[in-house]
Amino acid sequence: MKLSPEQLERFDRDGYLFFPGLFTPEETGRLTQAVPELYGRREAYNVREKGSEAVRTNFAAHLYSEPFARLARHPRMIEPVEAIFGEKLYMHQFKINGKMAFEGDVWQWHQDYGTWLNDDMMPTERAMNVAIFLDDVNEFNGPLMFIPGSHKKGVVNAQHDLTTTSYPLWTVSNELITQLVDRAGGKRGGIVSPTGPAGSMILFHSCLVHASTSNLSPWNRVSVYLSLCAVSNHIRRFKRPEYIAHRDFTPIDCLPDDCLLQDYPVDLPWKSGMPGSALVTSTEPIATTRKAA
Ligand code: SIN
Ligand code: MN
Repeated sequence: MKLSPEQLERFDRDGYLFFPGLFTPEETGRLTQAVPELYGRREAYNVREKGSEAVRTNFAAHLYSEPFARLARHPRMIEPVEAIFGEKLYMHQFKINGKMAFEGDVWQWHQDYGTWLNDDMMPTERAMNVAIFLDDVNEFNGPLMFIPGSHKKGVVNAQHDLTTTSYPLWTVSNELITQLVDRAGGKRGGIVSPTGPAGSMILFHSCLVHASTSNLSPWNRVSVYLSLCAVSNHIRRFKRPEYIAHRDFTPIDCLPDDCLLQDYPVDLPWKSGMPGSALVTSTEPIATTRKAA
């Protein structure tokens, strides 16, 4: 998939692009079917909501689930991002966020690159987020909210919130959010939330400020989030476990466009369990001469 000059201009201005219904129901079907079994596993890579059994985030499914391993190599996501950065990509993070009916909790206002810089020592913002809806997303089930143009501010001040939810996040203060929303148009477009059918895709800049509210509706809002990083921009510190921040900087090679419908063979390195090394962390920077593993 190739982005038009108009789309590139819009991405630069707003910090995101929305592609409603980019994947068909047949294409997303096998992904959706695989989720309950993945969420049922008692593994460190399933982070549950505070005080609840509902899964908030499942990490790294592309390393142990065939349909998600194929999605991680899909040209409809990889090619446009490669074109924007002008180099090959590796998978920095891979999540299936639940935002389950009645139980899905908030994601406070934050920028993803703030976390990648502070925790993982990712050198620059040359990494892109891609969201793919596995359920229909509407105004009731906790859609993502963006502040258009906020990526232009670069890395903004953030505080490490370890208490609000079950997942630590570098969050942005209410004062700064108010200023950013005003700057983006206040009540006229200062906050947007792309909604649409399962199979829709959003590309969004790693500095775009975003959040989502809790899901009080009876509808799940399962979405996959890929964080694709330019290979030369790989992280320099392994302070977080490998299932959260990946350490394999091998460039992603795409599968054919029909890879969600055909059983192309894929490697599943964590199929029989996560290696112990994935849990080993360090606050020291890695040697940057390290070869891609
Ligand atoms: C995220 O910002 O990483 C997730 C937000 C969401 O799933 O609503
Ligand atoms: Mn985020």
